[in-house]
Amino acid sequence: METYFILVGLLSICSLSFSQECNLQLLENVDFPGTDITFLYSPDVEHCQHLCTQHPSCLFFSFLRADWTRDNRNFYCYLKSTPSGEPTVRTPILGITSGFSLKQCYPYINPCLSQVYQNVDFFGADYRALFTADYEECQRACTKDPACQFFTFVNGDFTSEKIRFKCHLKFSWAVPRTPIVETKPGVVSGFSHKTQITQNFPTACEGKLFPSTTIPGNDIVVLPAASPGHCQTLCSTYPLCTYFSYVSNNFTCYLKNNANEMVTTAKEGVTSGIPARFCQLDDDWVKVAHEGIDFRGSDIRFELMDDANACERTCTEDPNCQFYSYVGERFSDRFYWRRCYLKRVITMPAPPKVTKLANVVSGFTQNCV
Ligand SMILES: *[C@@H]1O[C@H](CO)[C@@H](O)[C@H](O)[C@H]1NC(C)=O
Repeated sequence: METYFILVGLLSICSLSFSQECNLQLLENVDFPGTDITFLYSPDVEHCQHLCTQHPSCLFFSFLRADWTRDNRNFYCYLKSTPSGEPTVRTPILGITSGFSLKQCYPYINPCLSQVYQNVDFFGADYRALFTADYEECQRACTKDPACQFFTFVNGDFTSEKIRFKCHLKFSWAVPRTPIVETKPGVVSGFSHKTQITQNFPTACEGKLFPSTTIPGNDIVVLPAASPGHCQTLCSTYPLCTYFSYVSNNFTCYLKNNANEMVTTAKEGVTSGIPARFCQLDDDWVKVAHEGIDFRGSDIRFELMDDANACERTCTEDPNCQFYSYVGERFSDRFYWRRCYLKRVITMPAPPKVTKLANVVSGFTQNCV
């Protein structure tokens, strides 16, 4: 027991030295040049700040606003970090707003972005379209559809007459995806037991899995997944997925679309299945620790721990952590032994591209969890 407390004490000292303060300040017309991790599109600085917060390693950002005129990089949200956690340079420049990740601000609440953006297109990621009288009705259509994360509405003055009043419903991943899943002896990986897999439906269900079965063809999305259950959850939240196949030897999840027929074939090492859309899919797959598997990348930080169970508990208790990998003492390189890597990906609504376009209105679902 005593060693336990000493350990906890040491760990909290370690994590204190890593942590930055909660900094809510937004610096208008200031750039933090360089030290980019990546850039993503954002319609405004608030959205950009949440992207930075949900990105595993982003500590601060610079956002090129709609009124940025030096080139056409409007709506670019640059995610940044430095070892110190502070920007090395601050440059005054018109059209850029900079700020900090909210990772250290507890409780961090998932954003509900109620603003709509006039003359802004959330380009791509469409899964369904309908005609609505105005953008408010389009926003309601998006909010009522659990798959819809954001929308673009084409108003009555748009140049191309045929698509006036068209309401495009759009999708981005709200379920954590593991970007890389690979075999690595000595490593144990798993998910936070608080992983939000779908919205809360009152009816529980198990969904339908077909073991040792493949459904050839009709692939629309191919992505890594940890298990057939994980693949099924991805299919259940992806609006165009009619059924899926999961190949175990390379951890590949094939989401498929064919609403006319489903042709199954016996095949070892492949699990296929049907999504669950109107019930709470059981989340047993979230509780499984995968021995000999690494969810490589997407690291928030690492801490030293005695075993994979402690790593899982730490991940579950940390609201930022979605999944973890623990390096045990059977791993080949002892330098990494006992490291518990806490990981996450962006799960907020994120348009793949944001551009200026006259006579369209874009916005986000109001169905916020
Ligand atoms: C995974 O394995 C299957 C069958 O073994 C193969 O057909 C497929 O191309 C592989 N997929 C990837 C992404 O490597």
